[in-house]
Amino acid sequence: MREDLLDVEPYVSPQRPARYRLNTNESPYAPSAAFLEDLARATSELQLNRYPDKDAVALVNAIARHEEWPPEGVWVANGSNEILLHLLLAYGGPKRTAITFEPTYSLHSLIPKITGTRVLSQMRDEEFEVDLDAAVRAMTEVGPEIVMVCSPNNPTGVLEPQASIEVLLEEAPGLLVLDEAYIDFAGSEASARALLGRRNLVITRTFSKAWGLAGARIGYLLADPSVVEGIARVRLPYHLSALGQVAGEVALQHAGKAAAAARAVAGERDRVAIELQAMGLKTIPSHANFILFEVEDPPRVWRALLERGVLVRIYAGVARLERSLRVTAGLPEDNDAFLDSMAEVLDE
Ligand SMILES: Cc1ncc(COP(=O)(O)O)c(C=O)c1O
Repeated sequence: MREDLLDVEPYVSPQRPARYRLNTNESPYAPSAAFLEDLARATSELQLNRYPDKDAVALVNAIARHEEWPPEGVWVANGSNEILLHLLLAYGGPKRTAITFEPTYSLHSLIPKITGTRVLSQMRDEEFEVDLDAAVRAMTEVGPEIVMVCSPNNPTGVLEPQASIEVLLEEAPGLLVLDEAYIDFAGSEASARALLGRRNLVITRTFSKAWGLAGARIGYLLADPSVVEGIARVRLPYHLSALGQVAGEVALQHAGKAAAAARAVAGERDRVAIELQAMGLKTIPSHANFILFEVEDPPRVWRALLERGVLVRIYAGVARLERSLRVTAGLPEDNDAFLDSMAEVLDE
């Protein structure tokens, strides 16, 4: 066992059987019948006895068309987690440093750690935005090869202002990896996509959230083609299965449906936030498909919700989240069940 892994906790997102699963930010919408029909047709044409296209050319080209970005600057992998792993394998590693802004998605520090990269964690400011002064100071002092920013941030839902992204891009001595897993819930103007001409910007995306395909494991990045050339050196041969590749291609043919579902979820998110506020609870303004809210006794509320069949996310021992729970926006009836249960639990 590597010594530097001894203090690494394996990733856990506590799962419990529950009727309303509002804990992992998945889409509540199952793929449509039309999507499944097209997927069945496409998979029946695959030659599964053969290795897949190692460069996933058809999927890369389809993403490039969808994003209006050159295919040479697109990379696909098994979820955006594997995209982050590829980035850290190629650009992190021993004697290199990644900066993260906490609290954030736990893989932003776990993936650097497992690739032997030193992690420098900075706390976000009062509003859960990146503390720019502290970030610039740290970048100047440490010269990190990688700066990891999540926007909208998980688990707070906070969208990083475009002006901050520009400052970070300007000051980062290496890559700025901008995790936009939840960007489709944030409205059309929210993405930093317009800044992509900058050589050091990497935007990561996933089909797991707004696209409703968490089970298919597909993620991608958009970046300067030189970044993709670097990654090609660390990936395993045939890393993305033929099944994953066609699932992504078919999903892109149904992009309109996914966008409509994301809008519906965003509407429900806002409704849930308003209802929680009406119960007297503090909520963090969210641009994602979940809401972070504060209660006096999170373990009690978490357990009481679970007894009512509602599973939300709790953060034991995470700095700044000691009083927080996070709920994913589900179908209207899921959200009603959550809100009714919350009202009961707070009355107790
Ligand atoms: C911010 C963020 N990035 C990436 C991921 C990983 O997504 P994927 O399923 O694409 O690996 C998640 C999953 O919860 C996430 O919250």
